[in-house]
Amino acid sequence: MKNTPIEKELIDKTISDFKIIDFAKATIREVKAIASRAEAASGVEFIKMEMGVPGLPPSEVGVKAEIEALQKGVASLYPDINGIPELKQAASDFVKAFMNVSISPEGCVPVTGSMQGAFASFLTCTQCDEQRDTILFIDPGFPVQKQQLTVMGKKYETFDVYHFRGDKLKAKLESYLVKGNIAAIIYSNPNNPSWICLKEQELQSIGELATQYDVVVLEDLAYFGMDFREDLSGPNVPPFQPSVAHYTDNYVLLISGSKAFSYAGQRIGVTCISDKLYQRTFPGFGQRYGGGTFGTVFIHRVLYALSSGTSHSVQYAMAAMLKAAAEGSYRFLSEVRVYGERAKRLKEIFLRHGFYLVYDSDLGEPIADGFYFTIGYPGMTSGQLVQELMYYGVSAISLVTTGSEQQGLRACTSFIKEHQYELLDERMALFAENNPTRG
Ligand SMILES: Cc1ncc(COP(=O)(O)O)c(C=O)c1O
Repeated sequence: MKNTPIEKELIDKTISDFKIIDFAKATIREVKAIASRAEAASGVEFIKMEMGVPGLPPSEVGVKAEIEALQKGVASLYPDINGIPELKQAASDFVKAFMNVSISPEGCVPVTGSMQGAFASFLTCTQCDEQRDTILFIDPGFPVQKQQLTVMGKKYETFDVYHFRGDKLKAKLESYLVKGNIAAIIYSNPNNPSWICLKEQELQSIGELATQYDVVVLEDLAYFGMDFREDLSGPNVPPFQPSVAHYTDNYVLLISGSKAFSYAGQRIGVTCISDKLYQRTFPGFGQRYGGGTFGTVFIHRVLYALSSGTSHSVQYAMAAMLKAAAEGSYRFLSEVRVYGERAKRLKEIFLRHGFYLVYDSDLGEPIADGFYFTIGYPGMTSGQLVQELMYYGVSAISLVTTGSEQQGLRACTSFIKEHQYELLDERMALFAENNPTRG
């Protein structure tokens, strides 16, 4: 057994200092803190793949528009709770241009990131009807969304989609929906953490069941258009970003400025509520608020109570980015394509040293190279692998935290620096030597 780049004792002690009993369940922040501490103590550089934050400069289109808005004095004024008209129109045009979906500007509502969009959607959906008090996750998923439900004291159910792709998805979903307690279904597409993308046939099943059982679909498009297997970058021309919106009227689209526009710091997203759902009334709203529609409750009750709207200046940034994208003058997806190039190189290194991709395909088609990918190592559990890799100065998060039942890790490409490919290659060669697999 050759010495690892970081002493095993240092990592083990740091983990025990954090009082973490099962490292497989460590949160992203804990992994980050342990990696930083071990890096400082050892002087050895870590290859950090745990955080899912953008690693690129913010969209210039957005920054320029936001500065101009600030100089005009918008900071002193409360923004319209419905969203500024420019942004509502730009979002409506954007979903038409890149998804071929028609949603009135009225239903396009700014939020302080998709995080708030999800929180407000969970609240609104679970207030429609008191029988429907549970959110269903098509996992693996973004762990914080479950934390949101825990914070608000709501229930959720979940299943790992790994064994339920394609034809199997419908029956699996139906086994939950027949019980009558599900208010909404949520998934991300492309998916955080696995980067799988649900296919049209699967979206159709979700949409048809949503109509049949009258549940809302929350389609989380945090990585809008970033399935780089297809060129989704041209406005008003196919192929479009796939969506459940083509198969049901019961949907809310969560669009984020954070990843596709590298605008995470300003906290902006747009929640796009279908025209039909926006206008619908529900018994629960009458009891709680004395009336209201899904759209008006979402905006005037829930968002108003949460943050009284979204920062005024960033709404101008998002409006400018969406508008320029839909007009074709700003190719936003070419700026983020670099994540795919990084993933390709990183995956090649891991695979060459005996790792395998955990979620590796969409109905037989290899997954895209994108923001995240998932890796496993023969014979190792998620917990063993996440800890073992720390000895080699590589930090990532365990799939356990994402609702996945598979053994492995999520690796994020956003922080990788050019010189780190070679470093990773050397370290993974050593890892493979120290951990020979059978056969
Ligand atoms: C699947 C998913 N949804 C939502 C978010 C949050 O996005 P925002 O920054 O817009 O709140 C993220 C961020 O990592 C994500 O991965």
